[in-house]
Amino acid sequence: MIVDQTGLQVSAASQEAAEAFDRTLVAYLRFGNDIGDLLKTTYSLDSEMLLANVLRGYFMHMMGMRALVPKAQQALMAAQRVASAATPREQLHVKALESWCSLDLAGASAALEECIREYPTDVLAVKMLHYTHFYTGDAVNLRNSVGRVWHAWEGREDLPTYGYMLSMRAFGLEETGDYGKAESLGRAAASLNEADAWAVHTVAHVCEMEDRRQDGLSWLESKGGYDNWNNFRYHLAWHKAVMLFEVGRHDDVLALYDDGLFDPKSDEYLDLTNDISILARLELEGVDVGDRWAAMGERAKGRVDDKLLAFVDAHFALALGEVDAGAAEDYVTSIDGYSDSEDDTYAHVAQIVGHDLCAALVAYKAKDFEACIDMLEPVRDHVKLIGGSNAQRDLFAQILIDAAVQAEKWTLARSLLSERTTLKPKNARAWRQLIMVLKTMGDDAAAELASLKADVTSMN
Ligand SMILES: [Fe+2]
Repeated sequence: MIVDQTGLQVSAASQEAAEAFDRTLVAYLRFGNDIGDLLKTTYSLDSEMLLANVLRGYFMHMMGMRALVPKAQQALMAAQRVASAATPREQLHVKALESWCSLDLAGASAALEECIREYPTDVLAVKMLHYTHFYTGDAVNLRNSVGRVWHAWEGREDLPTYGYMLSMRAFGLEETGDYGKAESLGRAAASLNEADAWAVHTVAHVCEMEDRRQDGLSWLESKGGYDNWNNFRYHLAWHKAVMLFEVGRHDDVLALYDDGLFDPKSDEYLDLTNDISILARLELEGVDVGDRWAAMGERAKGRVDDKLLAFVDAHFALALGEVDAGAAEDYVTSIDGYSDSEDDTYAHVAQIVGHDLCAALVAYKAKDFEACIDMLEPVRDHVKLIGGSNAQRDLFAQILIDAAVQAEKWTLARSLLSERTTLKPKNARAWRQLIMVLKTMGDDAAAELASLKADVTSMN
């Protein structure tokens, strides 16, 4: 019987092909820059291997490009051709890919959840759930899906993928606010596998959420795997840039943007959202970002028909709003009329929050701050449904605050900043903004109290 690295049966031409697939999967788990080469090696050993085709299909979807959906469907058809002779576990992966090819992320999650219940050591299924739960804003199941299989992983440090499971467990804890446990598990995972970018990333998230910038910068600068990571290294640079921004090192942010973030050859959505997110943050503080928006606007214009992830839409709305108000308005209109399908996860999220969020961001870019508030405030509690992390979506909370300040809606600004400083008591920027608002409103006593808090937190 041919088996994978955790002992699960695999349909493959040879054990050698199964092992090549294992190496491909591990490369994906660590965000290595050799994933493509390893997948090619797998195909060279078994051109019809079901799981290789399933993985290829998953990869095509995870690129978030409409143009690649037909390629995912081709991979699905190749997998379906050999599915009748495959194991029940492999057939569940085919079922998940079928749902994903119908743009039904909830359906894909359901098939993958069934898979991990029956086969808790199926790392591919756990990792795919990490993606689908992440991009549907389901932090609870991001955490709990790993918890549901942990009975099979407890004490199994002997399994080659144990560390990667640990980093996924850590990230789910981070996104649900259990920062202490997330950090300890993230650090343990990074110790087990120095090349595990997800473990490095999880600890950076904890430092970001706890407003521990110096810890976060030290952590990211101490890691040396950047040359072996794929474009995810840009996202780690994004985390560093956010930390530098929060401590007011704006020139360093711009230098990092030019040297470690913006890649003129990249069209990957994560890279584009990293870049757009940093430019938007800098502008919140009035930093002149020069002509850096132009490249983002051009890329967004080329991707307006993707409409696969509302998280990406929101960033494209900012870029389009910056460079071409007409194109931005057209984009928002096209989201509204996209689809009424309940099975299409993107369309469903667009109806609940995606459209209104994009419309609000375009209004913000047009300096119609009242319109921005009118559209963003009612949906702010649903923004998590667009997916992404708490740290990434924080940009939209900051934009709402800025819109309230710009519109001189002082009681709204005060309430939003009061809320923010209670949630993020070590965030010096939030305290400074609150002081400014309180002083503007003539409440010098409250401003004085806030100043004491800001002084305490300014060392972070
Ligand atoms: Fe992140």
